Amino acid sequence: MILSPSLLSSDFARLGDELAALEAAGIKWAHLDVMDGAFVPNITFGPPVIKAMRKGCSLFFDTHLMIERPERYIQDFTDAGSDLICVHAEATVHLERTCALIAKAGKKAAVALNPATPADAVKYLLPQLDMVLVMSVNPGFGGQSFIPFSLDKIRELKGMIAACGSRALIQVDGGVTLENCAEIVAAGADVLVSGSAFFNHPPYGERHKTFLAACGR
Ligand code: DX5
Ligand code: ZN
Repeated sequence: MILSPSLLSSDFARLGDELAALEAAGIKWAHLDVMDGAFVPNITFGPPVIKAMRKGCSLFFDTHLMIERPERYIQDFTDAGSDLICVHAEATVHLERTCALIAKAGKKAAVALNPATPADAVKYLLPQLDMVLVMSVNPGFGGQSFIPFSLDKIRELKGMIAACGSRALIQVDGGVTLENCAEIVAAGADVLVSGSAFFNHPPYGERHKTFLAACGR
């Protein structure tokens, strides 16, 4: 299991220090939530901030774009230093073309599914995807409660991925806690995003270990 802490719950005034603390804690991924105030109600940060975060930081930048028509910004996030670019199936009309754009830019391509979006939305894309993000809350805010039917979607996707021999990882984002993480991993999750349940409990090295132990890793 890979833990990808969501910087949404970090201290934005000390982003550089927060990233350094994650690296020191043995964390490999950083989940960057980009929100545009249109696809979701909230607004966060964009390519210039990611570019600044990239300086001196070797974490894998797992970039979750909660923005309308993300195809307009693939090059900007590529140039800023994102390693993986995840777009919402609901935010782009030509999803296959958008994923192909990400791959052509040399980045890992991922698709996020809102809670009400069926797993079938990515069925034909699985062979070309590096990851599918199962949203287990409605995107926009940290600190919400995990929606239980997400477990069924994770299991369904796991079967679909195995059936077509895809390399795609399954990431789960929203309401992940120490209490439910074992069940989520057992359902088939490879990458867990955690915002509030991670950043509100320093020191990060200890919290990382506690999360791994709670998942039986
Ligand atoms: C929500 C974001 C999440 C968020 C998760 O729209 O995509 O990444 O930071 O926060 P928690 O873990 O607090 O639910
Ligand atoms: Zn996210």
